[in-house]
Amino acid sequence: MESIQIKDKKFAISITEEQILKEVDRVATEINRDLKDKNPLFLSVLNGSFMFTADLMKRITIPCEISFVKLASYQGISSTGKITEVIGVNEDISGRCVVIVEDIVDTGLTMQRLLETLGTRNPKEIHIASLLVKPEKLQVPLNIKYAAMNIPNDFIVGYGLDYDGLGRNYKDIYTVINE
Ligand code: IMP
Ligand code: MG
Repeated sequence: MESIQIKDKKFAISITEEQILKEVDRVATEINRDLKDKNPLFLSVLNGSFMFTADLMKRITIPCEISFVKLASYQGISSTGKITEVIGVNEDISGRCVVIVEDIVDTGLTMQRLLETLGTRNPKEIHIASLLVKPEKLQVPLNIKYAAMNIPNDFIVGYGLDYDGLGRNYKDIYTVINE
């Protein structure tokens, strides 16, 4: 499909499954090389990263563990505004090599919050693996060691990413068409 319609928006195909998997392959090779003796714990951030996580993990050949976390966002009672809570970290991560598996880093604020929260649990090291990064939108300094692809500052869907809950199922990535 060259283009799709989701609610009020039209999207055109921008990154094919073939292109995605080529970059996922490359990232997996780097991780297999770098973290070989570290028994890494991959923490996949749901929902968006489910497809990336599956394709990435099929290519990880070193001893490792995988678990899934979710971010619950709610309005705090204090003036600090929105509070993001990380739920689902049942493993003891102290002393461990942790790899966060994300779909996309946009402003980076979500990732920063995740790093802060996990950091309090004394991991030995934390690495970021993100399918996509929008470098122009990044608001905080982040060391994204394993980035599959950098993309421009446009809204995208597919391969796990959604627009209002829809579009996660597409195997390719689509970019919004501004009319
Ligand atoms: P950040 O905190 O601004 O880095 O936002 C990260 C989150 O925003 C991601 O995990 C996505 O859920 C969502 N997001 C950012 N850009 C897009 C996009 O282009 N399409 C769909 N979701 C996006
Ligand atoms: Mg996400």
